[in-house]
Amino acid sequence: MKGLVAAGGLGSRLRPLTHTVPKQLLPVAGVPVVVHALNRLRDIGITEIALVVGEFGAQTEQALGDGSDLGLRLTYLPQDRPRGIAHCVSLARDFLGGDDFVLFLGDNVFPGGLADYATAFRAKRPAAQIVVHKVSDPRAFGVAELDLDGRVTRIVEKPAEPRSDLAVIGAYFCTPALHRAVAAISPSARGELEITDALQWLVSRGDEVRAQVHTGYWKDTGTIEDLLDCNRELLDHLEPEVAGEVDAASELTGPVRIAPGARVVRSRIQGPVTIGAGTTVLDSRIGPHTAIGRQCSVIASGVGSSILLDGAHVHGVPDVRASVIGQHARVDRRSEPPGQRLVLGDHARAEIAG
Ligand code: G1P
Repeated sequence: MKGLVAAGGLGSRLRPLTHTVPKQLLPVAGVPVVVHALNRLRDIGITEIALVVGEFGAQTEQALGDGSDLGLRLTYLPQDRPRGIAHCVSLARDFLGGDDFVLFLGDNVFPGGLADYATAFRAKRPAAQIVVHKVSDPRAFGVAELDLDGRVTRIVEKPAEPRSDLAVIGAYFCTPALHRAVAAISPSARGELEITDALQWLVSRGDEVRAQVHTGYWKDTGTIEDLLDCNRELLDHLEPEVAGEVDAASELTGPVRIAPGARVVRSRIQGPVTIGAGTTVLDSRIGPHTAIGRQCSVIASGVGSSILLDGAHVHGVPDVRASVIGQHARVDRRSEPPGQRLVLGDHARAEIAG
């Protein structure tokens, strides 16, 4: 079985971060979102994977390389603009050949893995198998209706009046039957080739499309709030490892990962926390649920429930919370002259307490 990861989306709800970083490379618990996806595919024995990449393809390729560091063989397929998930399948037609494959949405996170779904697919091998999750408002998703035996009887993209509360989430197990379906459908009202339409095409023809109901944690990391929620969830399962330097005046509690070359001086780190390579934490309180990237500095500050991207600086700010701070962004304390001074990039957002 091969893997196909859709990683070309624009991430417009994650601006300003996604002006310079593709959403799939945003870190969650210290690891890019797409690497979590690739690891879940490798866990089920898939090592040959194509990534469909957009505007930031070169950056994605630079970050992941040929995949050998992850034990994978990666191929990159450029997409000129987002044209839909089913379009990703058509771009990968030659790569996929006659093999079964898992189509995975590169911004979806399934910490519990896909093993049960892979076993079910391999046992029954329907034309396609989707994963669905009960949500309170399904209107933002593909929505599936199932019979009592787990067969999909109808699947609709973002219905205004959903007939079930089962949202289709980002892991699709497919046989080559999907290629005929993708070739048969036309772009939707939003101008995209919808994977839901391809699956509905199979259902209408009487091909078997099955669904597995996911009850564990799942998140589409489409917004800042989702990113932070996912960061919290993944950090709750953090494997501690202290490779960097921690001085005798610092105190670590709970699971903490400190990368080689990071320094923690006169600080309290309350895990779960990850601190990236080359970062300095001095006279500060970090955590819980905080992931700090590489080459950051946090000095005389408090940071909790937050994500700092590589090169971020926080100096003299006592209570940074629920924040995502972009690459090389700075947050500094200032007492004179009075008032808040902000230099914010396009689509940035600041919430000031008090
Ligand atoms: C896409 C799919 C939708 C699915 C969702 C899961 O939506 O079109 O069927 O439920 O991913 O995250 P999009 O993110 O393109 O709006």
